[in-house]
Amino acid sequence: MKLFDTHSHYNDEKFDEDREEIIKATFESGVDKFMCIGYNIKSSRKAIEIAESHENIYCTCGVSPNDIEGLKLEDLKQIEEMAKNPKVLAIGEIGLDYYWEKDINMRELQKQFFIKQIEISNRLDLPITIHTRDAYLDTIKILKENKCVNTGIFHCCPLNVELIKDGLKLGYYISFSGTITFKNSKPELPVETVPLDKILIETDSPYLSPEPFRGKRNDSRNVIEVARKIAEIKNKTLEEIGEITYQNGIKVYKL
Ligand code: NI
Repeated sequence: MKLFDTHSHYNDEKFDEDREEIIKATFESGVDKFMCIGYNIKSSRKAIEIAESHENIYCTCGVSPNDIEGLKLEDLKQIEEMAKNPKVLAIGEIGLDYYWEKDINMRELQKQFFIKQIEISNRLDLPITIHTRDAYLDTIKILKENKCVNTGIFHCCPLNVELIKDGLKLGYYISFSGTITFKNSKPELPVETVPLDKILIETDSPYLSPEPFRGKRNDSRNVIEVARKIAEIKNKTLEEIGEITYQNGIKVYKL
C-alpha cells in the first residue's frame, strides 16, 4: 500500500537533528509521497531545499496567518519568486486564524495576506492550501470573492460540517489529520460528509500526533492512523482508503 501525506512540516527545526533519518524511515514505512509545507519565508525556502534533494517530496510556499507579524504585503514577492520552482505544487499554508489572533487590525491584515496569496496562486496556476481556525464565515467569504482557479485543500479541516459543506461546494478537497483519532473528537459526521473523491489524509507533523502517539513529535509514518480511522468510519478497508487518498493527492497537486 502506498500512502500520500499531503501536509507535513519536515522543514521545522524539530527535525534538524535527524531529518534525513526520518525521511528514510518515512519512505521505508510505505509512505510513497509527501508534501513539505511552508508557513513563512524562511520555512518556504527550507521546504524547497528539502524537496529539491529528494525525489518523492514536494512542497508549498506561503505565509500563514500566524506568521505575518513584522511582514509587509510586498514581502510576498519573495513567495511568488520562490513558488516558480517546479517542486512547488501549491501556495500555502495561507488563511485565517482567529483562535490565536484576537486583535481586529491583525485579523484585517490576515485577510489581506490571504487574498494577496490567492492572487499569487492564480498568477502561477497553482492550488492553495488553507489553514482556517475559528474563522469559518470570513474564510468562505474570501474564497467566494477571490476565486482560486485551481481550488485546493482545507488542511487539517476543522470538524465543522457547515464549513466542510461550503468548502466542498466551492470545489475544495478536505484533508483530515490525527485530530480525528482523538478521543471525544466526534469525527463521524464530518468524515461521512466528505465524498471519497474529495478526501485527503495528512499528519501536519511535527504537530498533532494521532492516538496512540499523542503528545510525541509526529512524522509522516503516522499518516496510516488517519487512513485507518477514515476506513473505519467509511466502512472501507485501510488499503482502499490508502489508494483513494493517494490518487486524490496526485489529482489536487497535479502530479
Ligand atoms: Ni501545517
